[in-house]
Amino acid sequence: MSRIMLATTALALALTTTLVLAAPALASPPVPADMLLAPPPFIEATRASVPFSHELHDKAGVACVTCHHTWDGKEEIGSCSVAGCHDQPGRKGETTFYSAFHARDNDASCLSCHRSIVQEGGQAPIACKDCHIN
Ligand code: HEC
Ligand code: HEC
Ligand code: HEC
Repeated sequence: MSRIMLATTALALALTTTLVLAAPALASPPVPADMLLAPPPFIEATRASVPFSHELHDKAGVACVTCHHTWDGKEEIGSCSVAGCHDQPGRKGETTFYSAFHARDNDASCLSCHRSIVQEGGQAPIACKDCHIN
């Protein structure tokens, strides 16, 4: 093999290794730390904030895109209440802040997913006070 060939092979190998190493990082971004969820400043809070563990849901096998349902897997993950998404006060309609967490028959909503789990005999909080902890 010529020196050029060797160099090309080495480069190809290095590139392959980089791609293989980079792939898992793209597929599964880091799981954020525990959070306390509250409404954005432009929506008045009427209930206590909600503690939320990404780690627990990750371990339970809930995929990032189940909740972050508009995420394309590449862009930075945004807040539920960014303009044009769940940015409205009140309870009715898909664009209310409320619906992001309580909508029925929607796997992206906390309450809907937990209800299905309980219906199937499992355990997850469905009472107001078990999420909105004072
Ligand atoms: C599975 C968890 C969960 C349950 C159960 C739940 N909520 Fe929520 N709720 C949330 C999350 C998360 C938010 C968004 C963060 C926040 O506003 O505290 C929220 C926000 C809200 C809001 C809008 C923000 C505010 O403070 O006004 C209202 C109103 C609300 N919930 C009422 C209720 C009521 C009433 C119940 C019981 C019927 C209930 N929630 C049950 C998780 C839950
Ligand atoms: C069970 C639902 C759920 C799952 C699953 C989930 N997230 Fe989240 N995530 C949330 C909620 C709720 C927020 C708060 C959104 C807001 O502030 O409006 C959030 C916020 C975030 C944020 C913003 C953090 C910040 O500091 O503002 C990032 C980044 C994120 N999630 C990444 C991920 C990744 C990566 C995964 C998969 C490993 C994942 N999430 C899985 C519900 C979920
Ligand atoms: C797609 C399904 C799904 C969604 C959406 C979901 N959860 Fe859960 N949640 C689970 C499962 C599964 C468990 C039980 C995990 C376990 O016991 O190992 C759970 C358990 C919990 C618990 C109990 C933790 C404990 O220590 O017992 C809390 C609190 C909770 N979820 C909050 C939330 C909040 C707040 C949201 C919305 C921001 C949310 N979940 C959205 C599936 C979901």
